[in-house]
Amino acid sequence: MSFVHLAAAAGYTTPALSRILTKSGYFLGLCGAVGSTVTYAAAVRPALRAPQNEPADAAALRRRMSLYLAWAGVVLLVAGYFELAARRAGRSKPLGDSLAPGRLWDFLRAPAAKGTWVAQGTVYLVQNAVLLLASAVLVALFVPRVRRHLDVLALTALPLALAGTLVAGIPVTAPKDADHVLDPLLDQVHIVSGTVWVGGLALLATLAAARGRLSENAGVLWADLWRRFSLVALVCVGAVLTSGLWMGWKHVGGISQLWTTTYGTFLLVKVALVLSMVVAGGVNQFWLMPRIARARRADSAASLLDLTLRHFPRVVWLEVALGVGVLAVVPFLSGSARSQAGSPPAVSSGGILAVGVLLVLTLAASLYITVRTSDALSRRSGLATP
Ligand code: HEM
Repeated sequence: MSFVHLAAAAGYTTPALSRILTKSGYFLGLCGAVGSTVTYAAAVRPALRAPQNEPADAAALRRRMSLYLAWAGVVLLVAGYFELAARRAGRSKPLGDSLAPGRLWDFLRAPAAKGTWVAQGTVYLVQNAVLLLASAVLVALFVPRVRRHLDVLALTALPLALAGTLVAGIPVTAPKDADHVLDPLLDQVHIVSGTVWVGGLALLATLAAARGRLSENAGVLWADLWRRFSLVALVCVGAVLTSGLWMGWKHVGGISQLWTTTYGTFLLVKVALVLSMVVAGGVNQFWLMPRIARARRADSAASLLDLTLRHFPRVVWLEVALGVGVLAVVPFLSGSARSQAGSPPAVSSGGILAVGVLLVLTLAASLYITVRTSDALSRRSGLATP
């Protein structure tokens, strides 16, 4: 019996190829726009402003950063258009029928359904208007003379790209209980933290590939860059795990459903990919960071350059590949393991929320310990990370 029949027999609907491509494409587009602008604001821009940098290194990275963001604008525009068409098509219509701008405009202008406070089309209209603005701001960076405004454009595109996903999470019916507030909220926390993590990794791996155009002293700049991003990544890991566990609980009614249902199996594959990313990140945090600190202490520009621009990016490219794998699995998380297994829907209670709070505190504590341990390892090598 083929996979499709097995899945159908188990009440699982395999998404159409067009839906797989449009959904993964949309989240890749968000990785490019949200992930890169947040990483630019939190890690790249502060590192580039450090006084000890070689001006030529900072200029080379700013040029590459500008081009990367410009292409991220193009990807966001195309992926956003196809995602909108896929939303119009839903599960019933072929995607091709929804690609015509006129049909999309009618979809966006459709009147509000009964019981809603706003038309779903209007929410999508606002979302796509914001995404269009974000793309336009980013694409402007293709123009060389506009690139001296990289800071302003990147920091303008950031809130626009963020709003581009957050607006889509606005419920069109008044939430009737806590779950109807927590579900869309944690879904957006999940999307933003996931796309910043994967998008930031992809950006820095691509910037690091400019190694051949950088001076032999660029290691100091990159040591600072990787350190700053590792803090961003740690926060994202905490947020994506917390929100992922909430959504996992909502869709999976018992551990055994992870291998007895198709939905569960895809989630298991996804979690395995994410855990592999965390392990790879751990190699950088606990193995490479202390060696970078030691090289800095020894003032060895050559080994600093080798560690920050050869070894570190190699591990990061692996994380990027795993992250893209995660986004490729996401469209297969359609339906729910609970409904496949005939389990009742999950409804939160005070007890569940208390466990959730405890989980968040435990995760925060473990991330704090991670930072302190990595610092201690670096200090033992004689110098805290820069
Ligand atoms: C790199 C890490 C991760 C990324 C980039 C990521 C990304 C995503 C994205 C983009 C969605 C779709 C949200 C939507 O359609 O509204 C999603 C859904 C989901 N994710 Fe993740 N995720 C990650 C890690 C995790 C982890 C660690 C878990 C579990 C512990 C998890 C569990 C889920 C679940 C249950 C869904 C809901 C799917 C549904 O709507 O049925 N994710 N994830």
